[in-house]
Amino acid sequence: MKLVGNNITIDGEKTLLISGAMHYFRTLPEQWEDRLEKIAAAGFNCVETYVPWNLHEPQEGVYNFSGMLDLGRFLKLAEEKGLYIILRPSPYICAEWEFGGLPAWLLKYTNIRLRTMDPTYIEKVDRYYDNLVPVFAPYLRSNGGNIIAVQIENEYGSYGNDSKYLAHLEEALRIRGVKEQLFTSDGPTHWMLSGGTLPNVWKTINFGSRTEESFKMLENYQTNMPKMVMEFWIGWFDHWEHEHITRKADDIREELIYMLENDISVNFYMFHGGTNFGFMNGANYHDEQRCTVTSYDYDALLTEAGDLTEKYHLVKDILKKYEHKIKKHKNHKYFSVKESKKMNYGDVEFTEYGTFKENLDLISKHYTSPYPLTMEELDQDYGFILYKTTIKGKLEALKLNLQEVRDRALIYLNGEYQGVIDRNNKQEILLSADGPESTLEILVENMARINYGPLLKDPKGITEGVRIGNQFLFNWDIYTIPLKDIENIKYGNGNKEEYPTFYRGSFEVKEVGDTYLDFEGWEKGVVFINGFNLGRYWKAGPQKRLYLPAPLLKEGKNEIVVFELHKDNKKMSLKEEAKLS
Ligand code: GLA
Repeated sequence: MKLVGNNITIDGEKTLLISGAMHYFRTLPEQWEDRLEKIAAAGFNCVETYVPWNLHEPQEGVYNFSGMLDLGRFLKLAEEKGLYIILRPSPYICAEWEFGGLPAWLLKYTNIRLRTMDPTYIEKVDRYYDNLVPVFAPYLRSNGGNIIAVQIENEYGSYGNDSKYLAHLEEALRIRGVKEQLFTSDGPTHWMLSGGTLPNVWKTINFGSRTEESFKMLENYQTNMPKMVMEFWIGWFDHWEHEHITRKADDIREELIYMLENDISVNFYMFHGGTNFGFMNGANYHDEQRCTVTSYDYDALLTEAGDLTEKYHLVKDILKKYEHKIKKHKNHKYFSVKESKKMNYGDVEFTEYGTFKENLDLISKHYTSPYPLTMEELDQDYGFILYKTTIKGKLEALKLNLQEVRDRALIYLNGEYQGVIDRNNKQEILLSADGPESTLEILVENMARINYGPLLKDPKGITEGVRIGNQFLFNWDIYTIPLKDIENIKYGNGNKEEYPTFYRGSFEVKEVGDTYLDFEGWEKGVVFINGFNLGRYWKAGPQKRLYLPAPLLKEGKNEIVVFELHKDNKKMSLKEEAKLS
């Protein structure tokens, strides 16, 4: 790919890039092919994906590029489907993804300065690139593959202005053999564009509307270059405790036609959103923390389950009229596409339960410390952490202060549930007990590291201390509970208690298909299907059902484990339809 005056050319031929965003790490690998075929079938010539550092380097110096993280396989499939590829491998990706894709272990280095030339940070980035670039290098256009453009950083201007850092990332790709077109992408404002761009690197912009105005703004920074919207937000995402957001299909018609008429290339963010499996959802912070829900449906061109939407048909029809402007790869095909089969498997009864207390030793690592430590200080990335201490003397309605809790804590005094204190501090808890000694337990859930904005550096657990009134409490037992492996959990039918509980049930599958887990009647927790962490559920909504993709199921008996924090229940049901609100 070359930029020639106002045009993009591939193999010397002028073309627009019409690209669809999908994140391989948000879709099961068995479904990649289907989604890619649907991108091609809509008349697109390109696919775009981010690369999540936190999944590819789950522990410092330990890399994973297999299974759902087999980036090479994804790139190869895209190639086979005749799609050009835009790759966005920057250390930070935002994307409503845990910590914007940065690995949690970076926060062990408490003085680290993220997304700058801080030597500690740069050393980690460079080592990651040493391991990452060879994985995608065979798929670069210059090596015979389909990757035609690579992003340097993601909306860097929204965060900082360290242009030396941007230049370092540019160089980091170049010295490792990336010869392709590099670019930055930023919001269309002066401060974002001045902070996020480099003088000689192609500048693309991100927005959901006002195409003409946005490119006028870009003209202050770039002229006589091809225009591209690197993220055209055709839908949006949801936060727990806030309403479901959608965007009408018709809303994007005029914008898209304007782009095509004016030779503006575009990447649809998202073409296919997918799912925030496990603990991988991100969070935003505007006056308060808002955590992204498990679904990343995004009201995109495909649903979370890969079905075609009204938007898909609308965009496909518009693109047909501009086909002459969209040069396709020689392998490109208008594949015939189909919807996945949806199943109603009925109710799952939970007959076994394992209490939190009796399982604690099996699922945790124990530490002692004079003061509370964060998850990261104890080498924990995601999940839960329990802090336990003894308080002497009589407690006369003393206010419990968590300074500061990230993100949501269940409080127990002498084994009795007192309520929830979360980061947004909605509830006040007063502790009362006769003494002479009381046990205070604080079970903290990491609900997601912030993925965007100035509070990006977001260690989890209790960051400073716990007070009753003005007095800090010292001497803690701390248990890290990452819930990576739930195989050890013991189920019995001993006494239920007020603590969280693991519930186990199973259901028979005759024919494997996609289904949706309805968690009505349950409060808040995490679900595991055949050992795979499907993600969080929460009565607060808006999401009411979790997408359960067919590849996680098998014919015969399938197991569900639910870790419920609050409310005892007996069943969940598996339905045929999504319920995002
Ligand atoms: C920005 C980021 C994306 C994503 C969108 C919102 O443009 O670059 O990663 O967070 O916002 O969905």
